Amino acid sequence: MKILLYGHPILREKSQPVKEINGELKKTIEQMAELMYKVKGLGLAANQVGIPKRFFIVDVAQKEGNPQLMVFINPEILEAQGKVIYEEGCLSIPGYYAKIERFSQLFIRAYDLDGKPFEKELSGLSAIAFQHEYDHIEGILFIDRLSLLKQNLFKRWWKKHKPKSLFYDS
Ligand code: NI
Repeated sequence: MKILLYGHPILREKSQPVKEINGELKKTIEQMAELMYKVKGLGLAANQVGIPKRFFIVDVAQKEGNPQLMVFINPEILEAQGKVIYEEGCLSIPGYYAKIERFSQLFIRAYDLDGKPFEKELSGLSAIAFQHEYDHIEGILFIDRLSLLKQNLFKRWWKKHKPKSLFYDS
Protein backbone atom coordinates (compact mmCIF):
# COMPACT_ATOMS: atom_id res chain seq x y z
CA MET A 1 0.00 0.00 0.00
CA LYS A 2 1.37 3.38 -1.04
CA ILE A 3 0.24 6.97 -0.67
CA LEU A 4 -0.56 8.70 -3.94
CA LEU A 5 0.88 12.17 -4.39
CA TYR A 6 -0.49 15.42 -5.78
CA GLY A 7 -0.81 15.05 -9.53
CA HIS A 8 -2.21 11.53 -9.37
CA PRO A 9 -5.66 11.55 -11.05
CA ILE A 10 -7.36 9.33 -8.42
CA LEU A 11 -6.94 12.18 -5.90
CA ARG A 12 -9.21 14.26 -8.15
CA GLU A 13 -11.99 11.68 -8.51
CA LYS A 14 -15.16 11.87 -6.49
CA SER A 15 -15.18 8.59 -4.57
CA GLN A 16 -18.04 6.09 -4.79
CA PRO A 17 -20.09 4.83 -1.81
CA VAL A 18 -18.99 1.65 -0.05
CA LYS A 19 -21.56 -1.04 -0.89
CA GLU A 20 -20.48 -3.77 1.52
CA ILE A 21 -18.68 -3.56 4.86
CA ASN A 22 -16.84 -6.89 4.97
CA GLY A 23 -13.61 -8.53 6.05
CA GLU A 24 -11.78 -7.23 3.01
CA LEU A 25 -12.65 -3.65 3.93
CA LYS A 26 -11.54 -4.26 7.53
CA LYS A 27 -8.22 -5.56 6.32
CA THR A 28 -7.76 -2.56 4.02
CA ILE A 29 -8.50 -0.19 6.91
CA GLU A 30 -6.01 -2.01 9.16
CA GLN A 31 -3.34 -1.57 6.48
CA MET A 32 -4.25 2.09 6.05
CA ALA A 33 -3.99 2.65 9.82
CA GLU A 34 -0.58 0.98 9.93
CA LEU A 35 0.60 3.24 7.10
CA MET A 36 -0.88 6.38 8.65
CA TYR A 37 0.85 5.70 11.98
CA LYS A 38 4.11 4.92 10.23
CA VAL A 39 4.16 8.30 8.46
CA LYS A 40 2.56 10.09 11.46
CA GLY A 41 -0.47 11.42 9.60
CA LEU A 42 -3.62 12.62 11.38
CA GLY A 43 -5.84 11.09 8.75
CA LEU A 44 -5.85 9.07 5.56
CA ALA A 45 -8.56 8.76 2.92
CA ALA A 46 -9.08 5.62 0.84
CA ASN A 47 -8.39 7.40 -2.45
CA GLN A 48 -4.99 8.46 -1.11
CA VAL A 49 -4.02 4.79 -1.29
CA GLY A 50 -5.66 4.33 -4.69
CA ILE A 51 -9.13 3.17 -3.61
CA PRO A 52 -11.80 5.61 -4.87
CA LYS A 53 -14.38 4.66 -2.20
CA ARG A 54 -16.02 6.79 0.47
CA PHE A 55 -14.15 5.97 3.65
CA PHE A 56 -11.31 7.40 5.68
CA ILE A 57 -9.57 7.13 9.01
CA VAL A 58 -8.60 9.83 11.50
CA ASP A 59 -6.52 9.77 14.67
CA VAL A 60 -5.75 13.09 16.30
CA ALA A 61 -4.82 11.51 19.66
CA GLN A 62 -1.75 9.57 18.52
CA LYS A 63 0.52 12.58 19.10
CA GLU A 64 -0.04 12.21 22.85
CA GLY A 65 0.93 8.56 22.54
CA ASN A 66 -2.65 7.51 23.04
CA PRO A 67 -3.91 6.32 19.65
CA GLN A 68 -7.65 6.40 19.09
CA LEU A 69 -8.49 5.34 15.59
CA MET A 70 -11.72 6.72 14.16
CA VAL A 71 -13.15 5.03 11.08
CA PHE A 72 -15.74 6.77 8.90
CA ILE A 73 -17.48 4.80 6.15
CA ASN A 74 -19.92 6.57 3.79
CA PRO A 75 -19.71 9.70 5.97
CA GLU A 76 -22.14 12.61 5.76
CA ILE A 77 -21.95 16.06 7.32
CA LEU A 78 -25.37 16.78 8.86
CA GLU A 79 -24.60 20.14 10.47
CA ALA A 80 -21.61 22.45 10.54
CA GLN A 81 -21.00 25.70 12.37
CA GLY A 82 -18.33 28.08 13.65
CA LYS A 83 -14.99 28.93 12.12
CA VAL A 84 -11.45 27.84 12.89
CA ILE A 85 -8.14 28.44 11.13
CA TYR A 86 -5.45 25.79 11.36
CA GLU A 87 -2.20 25.11 9.55
CA GLU A 88 -2.85 21.96 7.54
CA GLY A 89 -0.62 19.57 5.71
CA CYS A 90 -1.39 16.50 3.64
CA LEU A 91 0.40 13.18 3.17
CA SER A 92 -0.24 13.55 -0.58
CA ILE A 93 1.54 16.93 -0.65
CA PRO A 94 4.61 16.26 1.51
CA GLY A 95 6.36 19.29 2.95
CA TYR A 96 3.69 21.89 2.23
CA TYR A 97 1.64 23.54 4.98
CA ALA A 98 -0.92 26.33 4.83
CA LYS A 99 -3.53 27.93 7.03
CA ILE A 100 -7.03 26.85 6.05
CA GLU A 101 -10.40 27.97 7.37
CA ARG A 102 -12.81 25.21 8.40
CA PHE A 103 -15.97 24.76 10.41
CA SER A 104 -15.11 24.40 14.09
CA GLN A 105 -17.99 22.05 14.95
CA LEU A 106 -19.61 19.26 13.02
CA PHE A 107 -22.42 16.85 13.49
CA ILE A 108 -21.78 13.85 11.28
CA ARG A 109 -23.18 10.46 10.39
CA ALA A 110 -21.19 7.48 9.14
CA TYR A 111 -20.97 3.69 9.32
CA ASP A 112 -18.49 1.85 11.50
CA LEU A 113 -16.53 -1.33 10.75
CA ASP A 114 -19.42 -3.48 11.97
CA GLY A 115 -21.69 -1.85 9.41
CA LYS A 116 -23.60 0.08 12.07
CA PRO A 117 -24.59 3.70 11.47
CA PHE A 118 -23.53 6.22 14.10
CA GLU A 119 -23.79 9.95 14.65
CA LYS A 120 -21.08 12.00 16.31
CA GLU A 121 -20.27 15.56 17.30
CA LEU A 122 -16.77 16.62 16.37
CA SER A 123 -14.86 19.73 17.40
CA GLY A 124 -11.27 20.92 17.54
CA LEU A 125 -8.66 18.99 15.62
CA SER A 126 -10.94 16.01 14.96
CA ALA A 127 -13.45 18.32 13.17
CA ILE A 128 -10.63 19.83 11.10
CA ALA A 129 -9.20 16.43 10.20
CA PHE A 130 -12.67 15.10 9.33
CA GLN A 131 -13.26 17.98 6.88
CA HIS A 132 -9.80 17.54 5.33
CA GLU A 133 -10.45 13.81 4.75
CA TYR A 134 -14.03 14.40 3.62
CA ASP A 135 -12.64 16.79 1.00
CA HIS A 136 -10.32 14.01 -0.20
CA ILE A 137 -13.19 11.63 -0.97
CA GLU A 138 -14.86 14.48 -2.88
CA GLY A 139 -11.68 14.91 -4.95
CA ILE A 140 -10.76 18.15 -3.19
CA LEU A 141 -7.33 18.97 -1.75
CA PHE A 142 -6.60 21.55 0.96
CA ILE A 143 -4.65 23.71 -1.47
CA ASP A 144 -7.91 24.19 -3.45
CA ARG A 145 -9.14 26.21 -0.49
CA LEU A 146 -6.30 28.74 -0.75
CA SER A 147 -6.67 32.10 -2.50
CA LEU A 148 -5.76 32.06 -6.22
CA LEU A 149 -2.55 33.93 -5.41
CA LYS A 150 -1.52 31.32 -2.85
CA GLN A 151 -2.50 28.50 -5.21
CA ASN A 152 -0.11 29.93 -7.79
CA LEU A 153 2.64 30.20 -5.18
CA PHE A 154 1.95 26.60 -4.23
CA LYS A 155 2.22 25.42 -7.85
CA ARG A 156 5.64 27.07 -8.13
CA TRP A 157 6.70 25.55 -4.81
CA TRP A 158 5.56 22.11 -5.96
CA LYS A 159 7.54 22.30 -9.22
CA LYS A 160 10.69 22.74 -7.16
CA HIS A 161 9.89 20.27 -4.41
CA LYS A 162 7.80 17.50 -5.93
CA PRO A 163 9.15 13.99 -5.52
CA LYS A 164 10.03 12.10 -8.69
CA SER A 165 7.36 9.45 -8.30
CA LEU A 166 3.62 9.78 -7.79
CA PHE A 167 3.92 7.60 -4.70
CA TYR A 168 5.15 8.52 -1.26
CA ASP A 169 8.26 6.57 -0.47
CA SER A 170 8.03 5.85 3.24
NI1 NI B 1 -4.69 15.02 3.04
